[in-house]
Amino acid sequence: MKMFQVVNFVLLFTLVSSAIFGTEGITFPDHFLKGCSFSTYQNGGHFSSYGNPGLFTAKSNWSWFEDQKTHFNMKHLALFKPTSVIEGQQKIGHSAEFYDRALDDIKLLKNLQTNAVRFSFEWADYEVEEGVFREDYLNFFENYVDALIKNGIQPMITLHHFVHPLWFEQKGGFTKSENIDYFKRYCKRVFERLGGKVKLWCTINEPTVVSACGYILGIHPPGKVFNFNLAGTVLLNLLNAHVAVYKELKAMPGGHDAQIGIVHQLLTFQPYQHTINTLISQFTIKNPIGSLVAPFFNFAFGNETLKEFFKTGRFNYTIPFIGKLPLWSGRFCNVVAENPDAPKSFDFFGINIYSRVIVSTKPTCYPNQVMTDMEYPSSPELVYDAIVEMSKLGKPMYITENGIADKHDTHRAQFIQTAEKYVHKAFEEGYDIRGYFYWTLMDNYEWNDAFTQHFGLYAVNRDTQERTLRPGGSVFKDCFVTTV
Ligand code: BGC
Repeated sequence: MKMFQVVNFVLLFTLVSSAIFGTEGITFPDHFLKGCSFSTYQNGGHFSSYGNPGLFTAKSNWSWFEDQKTHFNMKHLALFKPTSVIEGQQKIGHSAEFYDRALDDIKLLKNLQTNAVRFSFEWADYEVEEGVFREDYLNFFENYVDALIKNGIQPMITLHHFVHPLWFEQKGGFTKSENIDYFKRYCKRVFERLGGKVKLWCTINEPTVVSACGYILGIHPPGKVFNFNLAGTVLLNLLNAHVAVYKELKAMPGGHDAQIGIVHQLLTFQPYQHTINTLISQFTIKNPIGSLVAPFFNFAFGNETLKEFFKTGRFNYTIPFIGKLPLWSGRFCNVVAENPDAPKSFDFFGINIYSRVIVSTKPTCYPNQVMTDMEYPSSPELVYDAIVEMSKLGKPMYITENGIADKHDTHRAQFIQTAEKYVHKAFEEGYDIRGYFYWTLMDNYEWNDAFTQHFGLYAVNRDTQERTLRPGGSVFKDCFVTTV
């Protein structure tokens, strides 16, 4: 054989085998879900702004928040002139034009060889005013769901992904337990129509992020800062809302066949530490600022609180140290409650995992790590730790979000392949991991970071809306391959 034939043969063999076996021969069983995840609001803004006929313009906590100004902005203190917390004061507009391009974009999913997609249904666009439901919005999604299924792509719907109607927010939103009934009513209507077709449902996306970012850090609506008691109350109400919706949907026709879960981001913080070797011994020094701040953030992002809730039904959101002081206990930094139904109120657990943040005086990472554009370390291997940790809840698991903000696409390929390797390791060890959803299909609106972050497998040209598969994104085609 001539040299070029050998080269051709090797190339052909590599292509064919990677198509069949994925990276390094890694394969998953045929029922394993390989998908992309996105939120409809992040990809499309509000439905009514597309000139769709309808009496009302949808308004939400997020469209309201875009117009707000604050003196406290995490990035710079705006003492004299209040400013928006949204990067560059950008507006979402139509973002990646989801509502115009949804059907056409199915080919992007197919091109990546996915068999599933996770997206949100938007309450604010459906129940535009209290009790006023847009049935054409449901029609739109029924159509979308049909098209996905026809193309061999299984839909997973999230019912609350950070956005809810402004009228609901103005009634107190999730700060009031009696408002849970509104959420229940909305979820039931959606399930009534789509429950026969959609088998995978996430009630609420990242309740701990909703409460911490909205009521402690002020970077999500309603932009409250250091309001620990409200943060705890909102978290409790979101978790109770999940339990209530789970019960309602399970009791409806189609409920038995549906898998209903909640999605949690396992966001944790550690002080920067380094080890010093001396002749006599070895010791570790922790960054003092990090040592103070990390426990505070760990409390704020409620990982332990949420796990305990789903394990035991007990809810305890108590700020470290000061929350236990007799003077403050029970006043503003601890919320304690119980919901005995919690441990039996989910069929699967959705895990969003991005990073373990290293806290120092400035955003940092260790020398063997790389920083993502979000200024936290790229940590694809954490999917394994996350699966092991959440397996303690004893339910099937999905990685519902995992991805990297990487505008220059330098680290994405490596990120995806490493994540695949570690999900596979967990799978091989017998953990009940049923799917992996990459965040996200295409560049979109990254909340308070607006359009500055690029998580997409596809880049989106903001002027022409052209979608271009990034070289790092194309790696996903041959990863998480199933045996059929
Ligand atoms: C959220 C997404 C977000 C992603 C990347 C998650 O917290 O669910 O909406 O875009 O992280 O930051």
